Amino acid sequence: MVADVRIESAMSSRKIKTGKYRKMRKFEHPGELPEDMRDLLLKMLTVQADTEFASVEQHRDWQTDAPSAEDRWVIARIVADEVRHGLSMVRLLRDFGEDGEKAIEGLMKRRIGDHILDSFNIEFKDWIDVVTFTCFVDRVGLYQLESFVECSYAPLARQIPLMLNEEQLHIGFGLNGLKKAVNDPNYPGNKERAQESVDFWVPRALDMFGHKGSKNAALAQELGIKRWQNEEMRLRYYKEIAGICESLGLETPPIDANRRIVDA
Ligand SMILES: [Fe+2]
Ligand SMILES: [Fe+2]
Repeated sequence: MVADVRIESAMSSRKIKTGKYRKMRKFEHPGELPEDMRDLLLKMLTVQADTEFASVEQHRDWQTDAPSAEDRWVIARIVADEVRHGLSMVRLLRDFGEDGEKAIEGLMKRRIGDHILDSFNIEFKDWIDVVTFTCFVDRVGLYQLESFVECSYAPLARQIPLMLNEEQLHIGFGLNGLKKAVNDPNYPGNKERAQESVDFWVPRALDMFGHKGSKNAALAQELGIKRWQNEEMRLRYYKEIAGICESLGLETPPIDANRRIVDA
């Protein structure tokens, strides 16, 4: 199912496809937006931008510390991609006038420790963390971006295909690194360390989908901003990563282990 969505993402229609504005033309400017939609988009763009800039902070030292010259080049590429994703979100925020400028000012001041989502406040302790993060945490980003495909706000919808492409490269690199960590004795880390890193990052990745009954997620779906709700995406993601862990010969952490965002 995810693969179909990825192909479909190359084509974006001018009409809204889901939610209560279905069949209307997509919104082109913040000035046309109903108030609840304007507020929610401001929030979502800010969170998205924050994750992009935060991930730059997490990766940047590995441009000089990655184990091989090829790995350094890939990390430099990831850093450039994430800055570009952050910049794209900032440009969208600028269209929101004073409120957007205020959000941007806040974003430029945030540093590791005060980012909005937990996964982005943790430094990588070794190279295995770098590849586990790109394999599992960037993959959550992919689900979020896929949910924005056909977003009812056209300027955001137009950013998605290229971002999706780039995230797929990051994720492929992470998975490849983990495979080598598990199987290649000449590569940093080993199976035990890979399992430890997976056990650490997967709960943080699962938390990133947010609360099951989130009102904002329901509203985003109703307004045609996102296609899916949190729990739906989390379960689909979990199924996918269980297959990946199995292919690596690793255990999948239970879905509720070490979670911080817990629903009653
Ligand atoms: Fe990104
Ligand atoms: Fe990424």
